[in-house]
Amino acid sequence: MKSNGYQSGFGNEFATEALPGTLPVGRNSPQQVAHGLYAEQLTGTAFTAPRHANRRSWLYRIRPAAMHGPFAPFDQPRLHNDFQAGAVTPDQLRWDPLPLATTPTDFVDGLFTMAGNGSPQAQTGIGIHLYAANRSMQGRFFYDADGELLIVPQLGRLRIATELGVLEIEPQEIAVIPRGVRFRVELLDEQARGYVCENFGAMLRLPDLGPIGSNGLANPRDFLIPHAAYEDIDAAPGESFELIGKFQGHLWRADIGHSPLDVVGWHGNYAPYKYDLRRFNTIGSISYDHPDPSIFLVLHSPSDTPGTSNIDFAIFPPRWLVAQDTFRPPWFHRNIASEFMGLIHGAYDAKAEGFVPGGSSLHNSMTGHGPDAATFDKASHADLAKPDVIRDTMAFMFETRGVIRPTTQALAATHRQRDYQACWAGLQKRFSGS
Ligand SMILES: [Fe+2]
Repeated sequence: MKSNGYQSGFGNEFATEALPGTLPVGRNSPQQVAHGLYAEQLTGTAFTAPRHANRRSWLYRIRPAAMHGPFAPFDQPRLHNDFQAGAVTPDQLRWDPLPLATTPTDFVDGLFTMAGNGSPQAQTGIGIHLYAANRSMQGRFFYDADGELLIVPQLGRLRIATELGVLEIEPQEIAVIPRGVRFRVELLDEQARGYVCENFGAMLRLPDLGPIGSNGLANPRDFLIPHAAYEDIDAAPGESFELIGKFQGHLWRADIGHSPLDVVGWHGNYAPYKYDLRRFNTIGSISYDHPDPSIFLVLHSPSDTPGTSNIDFAIFPPRWLVAQDTFRPPWFHRNIASEFMGLIHGAYDAKAEGFVPGGSSLHNSMTGHGPDAATFDKASHADLAKPDVIRDTMAFMFETRGVIRPTTQALAATHRQRDYQACWAGLQKRFSGS
């Protein structure tokens, strides 16, 4: 399925058709849809959600989404939302990258759950997953009924063919697939690896800007939504494709006799999108001190408590550091929020070594952390008469109000760095009371 290009804007009302004359005019569900298509509504919010928050799309498709065989449990035990098992350590935790796939592995097979909180049932919290894949999904389609998927590639380009069109992304770009939208992930390079945030809560949105003004951070026009694209493919006689659904924390599989990526036209504001993190307008201090990292917020999912997110997606992109009489890297801190970090590209300015592209770290609520000893020494003696330029970097954070509980498999993984806490051991006692 080829991309038909993109439209731009965040949460706009879009209208797009891959065949002229597909979209009905003046109504959503005419007695007969053009080209013999079926009309189907897909809602992402309650029917009665306030207008500014209401998200739904109308799909005009070759077959309705109801057409598939019965679901049965699908065995992929590395992907789940079982976050409540056992005690959770307050230790600082860090991991090397998930090893690349060595046997034929597609995106669904290659998902590995690291941590999470809340649950799909409660419609709050997130799942944090990694993926490592070396082949495209073949004859297989996936959807997640439990949450929207924020996909953050670290290695390898992806073509994500969805019901509503095609997204092509590379590292330093992200894709968001709304809850329920069916898609197929194709690899455009030999290997693919990255991070996935599964958001059980309110849909990701752009943050308010307050005194920043009407522009800045992630600008709405830089979000790209696919034009409609479809495939008209039936399974060979006696064969079928697979529809894999994630529902209430686990995977299910059903036979499906056709490609569900058969939406010829759609209109609405519930659609997948992509965003290039390199377009982020980074705002920081031009006098003194390092601002709170909320200044780096790309997208967030609000919770029921004003100002407190279910999930904040923040990035740490290239930027200038010019603050005077200031320790320029991020300071030592303990937060009520819990922080899962990943590195997409380059090096992260608060860690001299050990946090590499594809790696992960987890600092939970009230767990002390901050620059390692080498970074502290260097930044404490840096020449502040000169600005620093942080180049070639792109780190990110999934920050949540709830404690992020690592899975048993993440704690036991061979790629976990069991000596992580040693990075602070070299910090010397510097106090002198005289
Ligand atoms: Fe932190």
